[in-house]
Amino acid sequence: MTLHFFLTTAIILSISLNIILLFRLRKKRKQLLKYSSQLQKFRDLSTKLRDIVVQREETFYKNLHELSIGFLKNVKKSYLITFDGEYGQVVSALGDTSAKEKKVRKIDLPYSVERVYLVEKDKLSAIFEPSLDTSVTSDTSSKKILVTDIHIGGELKGKLLIERDEPFVSDEIDTIKSLSGFLTSFMATHSYVTSQGKFQKDMILTIIRILEYHDPYTKGHSKNVANLASLLAEKLGLSDELIRKTYWAALVHDIGKIVIPSTILNKEGKLTIEEFEIIKKHPVYGHDFLSTSADLRELARYVYHHHERWDGKGYPSGLSGEDIPLISRIIAVVDAWDAMRSSRPYRKGLSKEEALKELIEHSGIQFDPNIVRTFVKLIREHLVD
Ligand SMILES: [Fe+2]
Repeated sequence: MTLHFFLTTAIILSISLNIILLFRLRKKRKQLLKYSSQLQKFRDLSTKLRDIVVQREETFYKNLHELSIGFLKNVKKSYLITFDGEYGQVVSALGDTSAKEKKVRKIDLPYSVERVYLVEKDKLSAIFEPSLDTSVTSDTSSKKILVTDIHIGGELKGKLLIERDEPFVSDEIDTIKSLSGFLTSFMATHSYVTSQGKFQKDMILTIIRILEYHDPYTKGHSKNVANLASLLAEKLGLSDELIRKTYWAALVHDIGKIVIPSTILNKEGKLTIEEFEIIKKHPVYGHDFLSTSADLRELARYVYHHHERWDGKGYPSGLSGEDIPLISRIIAVVDAWDAMRSSRPYRKGLSKEEALKELIEHSGIQFDPNIVRTFVKLIREHLVD
């Protein structure tokens, strides 16, 4: 009897223990699955974000924003805001494009949430005025608005605001909370890349100013060609990376003219054959200067070929057609356009229509016909003066 009682109790205890263990295991498994799904989300996000760090400001924020909230369903409105001191800017707005490009003011409240206002014509209108309980840092049951702060170096540098009609569940809130750390590192990396880019750009613009001092008739030419060539590259459907390279190569395309005597560069009459031979060396000099740096070697190649012609009668290599690097072919068209449009002391610049006619006449001979076609469209659509 005692043995039977003992055995029954042991079996009941063992079954209960197993049930408890099973429940615990199921709970652990659920937790593990939750973490693994979160981890997967971050892994996917980091892969996508890795490629956008070097993108231009507007594209970078738009992509960062879309990727960050991509896993959330039925988002009504969302804003990514960056702050510089008291004022900030909506750098990306989803579901409310009118808010884009507008200034935002941050008004601190004595709590962890701040109201965010749009500053429009000296009038403040709230785009987001979350009541205190809507922050991710406070009670999060049945919340339809999420606000998460982005800190860089201890300073509030941005906010991600998300609104939808249905409440956020705890999993989504957890993911968004963890995401703010992620956003911080990507925004910090982007700002570092941008500041590096700004330093390089300032250095190059200084060298361009020296060139313009040496050859005053090219004043503004390098910048014009860079702006227009990158616009044309965009219109041709090139990647962000290639658009950026087009801008830099176009900016420095005539850098080799620094070592051409100013008496030749500034000569008003016709050049002699010997003088023209000297001028023709500027792409080679430009290439030599730039290729001393490993980072600039690719740009050096584009600079080297910017006076090649589609028919192979250009210089310095006499390359023809698609053997000429695409970026050099783009620069060739825009360079000719800007030179024709600008006035010199000895001749007046051509009108828009006259210059377009020249480009079209030389399309397929001097210039890549596809690039000329796209360029003419760009000018005709009044996108460019
Ligand atoms: Fe040139």
